[in-house]
Amino acid sequence: STPLKIGLMGLGTVGQGVLRVLRKNADEIERRIGRKLVVTHIATKDLDRNSESLEGITVSDDALTCVRSADVDVVVEVMGGYNIAKQVTLAAIERGKPVVTANKALLAEHGNEIFAAAAKAGVGLGFEAAVAGGIPIIKAVREGLAGNRIDSLAGIINGTCNYILTQMTVKGQTFADALSDAQKLGYAEADPTFDVEGVDAAHKLTILASIAFGIPLSFGAVAREGISKITAQDIQIALTLGYRIKLLGIAQRSDAGVSLRVHPTLVPDDQLIAKVDGVVNAVVVNGNAVGQVGFYGRGAGGDPTASAIVADLIDVARSLGVPQAQRVPVLAFQPGAMKALPL
Ligand code: HSE
Repeated sequence: STPLKIGLMGLGTVGQGVLRVLRKNADEIERRIGRKLVVTHIATKDLDRNSESLEGITVSDDALTCVRSADVDVVVEVMGGYNIAKQVTLAAIERGKPVVTANKALLAEHGNEIFAAAAKAGVGLGFEAAVAGGIPIIKAVREGLAGNRIDSLAGIINGTCNYILTQMTVKGQTFADALSDAQKLGYAEADPTFDVEGVDAAHKLTILASIAFGIPLSFGAVAREGISKITAQDIQIALTLGYRIKLLGIAQRSDAGVSLRVHPTLVPDDQLIAKVDGVVNAVVVNGNAVGQVGFYGRGAGGDPTASAIVADLIDVARSLGVPQAQRVPVLAFQPGAMKALPL
């Protein structure tokens, strides 16, 4: 069968990870789905930092060219940002090309429009990589827990903040040095205030809550406080009292609606989440049939994020040609669905 031709938009930490994982696991993937996944086109404005071979791949600096190329069946958006990313995502949907994206900021803030466009066009939109990096939390909540009413979820969903808090707690590193290391390691957002002020976690919570509770994306309803005011002294006092400070995203259902919040939280140190250190994410979900389930794994970085993107590409390869009604709905708001509680 013919290969699935991929247009990769963005070649930063995550884009390079996608190339690496597709190459490393090419045989395994082909055996699994009976088809090759091949990157045919890359759009990037910054080739200098790239360490992967681009032989045989068309490279341009224009993402729209990538979307329009007859040599591209599906696009992967790992450029980040809002304007161009939104434009090319909608352009791909218009052309009937499925999109796989890691862009949590775009989905959290403009997702209602984008998902509506994808549903109308009957085009697939994969976003497993947008929440909790390598942890397959979207599929787990949407498919694996589909038999439950979800009552609440909570978790560490920003790897950079967890890395900083861990370094400050365990190694006595300063906030500034730990942040600078997280940037060098490729964990932080292009604008690291998104990490430390809880914006990135709020983006991810918005998306996750939409899946878990069937509510529209409601970024504006997330109460938010970051970790930039946490001092070494706060951490020491918490430790003395038997707590760890963690930045958590929390969503809770009540009769009135779903409350959404992101803030530094004192977690008793005998709880599992208190023990999650480094650039790791952990999410616990409470369902009314399963009880509590937990998910744990690398929440940022090239290869872990690429793991989720490649899984979405495999979904695309498997679902092309399958009528929309027979596919797992990407996002589904039922009439009369619950709402997020306003701030
Ligand atoms: N900056 C994000 C984090 C990257 O640290 O979690 C993964 O979304």
